[in-house]
Amino acid sequence: MESKVYAIIPAAGSGRRMGSSILKQYIMLGDKPVLAHTLSAFDRAGSVDCMILAVSPDEKEYIEKEIIKRYGIEKPVFYAPGGRERQESVANALHSVGNCDIVVVHDGVRPLVTPDVIEETIQAARQYGAAAAGMPVKDTIKEIDPAGFAVNTPDRSILWLIQTPQAFKLRLLEEAHKKAAEDGFLGTDDSSLVERLGHPVKLVEGGYGNIKITTPEDVDLALHMMRNRGITL
Ligand code: C5P
Repeated sequence: MESKVYAIIPAAGSGRRMGSSILKQYIMLGDKPVLAHTLSAFDRAGSVDCMILAVSPDEKEYIEKEIIKRYGIEKPVFYAPGGRERQESVANALHSVGNCDIVVVHDGVRPLVTPDVIEETIQAARQYGAAAAGMPVKDTIKEIDPAGFAVNTPDRSILWLIQTPQAFKLRLLEEAHKKAAEDGFLGTDDSSLVERLGHPVKLVEGGYGNIKITTPEDVDLALHMMRNRGITL
């Protein structure tokens, strides 16, 4: 029998780039809010046993009533306090993880993730210790200086956009967060903390549709892709 998998869902962002009064995790996307789509994908992913949501403690009651109960999320959902940065939110959730082998971390605001991608990422983590979803870049990427001038153009053929889910053996992710905290390192994802330990991270294709809802254009894009998937809006 395969061992237990915890999902960690950081959803404590303030959504400054959305420019909306409603937090982006609660924006309605068709029939349900962004966060409900995300939790529903994890509810349907066969290997995931339970979820830990990192959110502001005063939103817990709202989430329980308006998301978990209203949209019928069946797996157990636990809560951890959100931090000032995403990394801190994930670290707080890690402290609440019980006895398990694998943790899979996923942004609350990536509602189009599929159960298949979640499963593939978990399987890759079982095999390699660490895995992250992503896709090869399509555009040319430039490094810029503070004045907005291009200073370097890395070879596009070896660049990937990195997404979540990202899955890890629990001990490895705990060690990576401990080291990052000791060194005062702040990363924008969890795999970068694991890479700092010198541990390889296997990449799996998450699909170009696995977008993060960040700006208002992303909501339009997400609705369009949901229609294409045959989801009634
Ligand atoms: O920061 P970014 O927009 O990349 O957010 C990715 C995810 O991290 C979002 O789901 C957001 O709610 C979450 N986050 C968090 N705590 C923070 C900042 C972001 O849980 N302090």
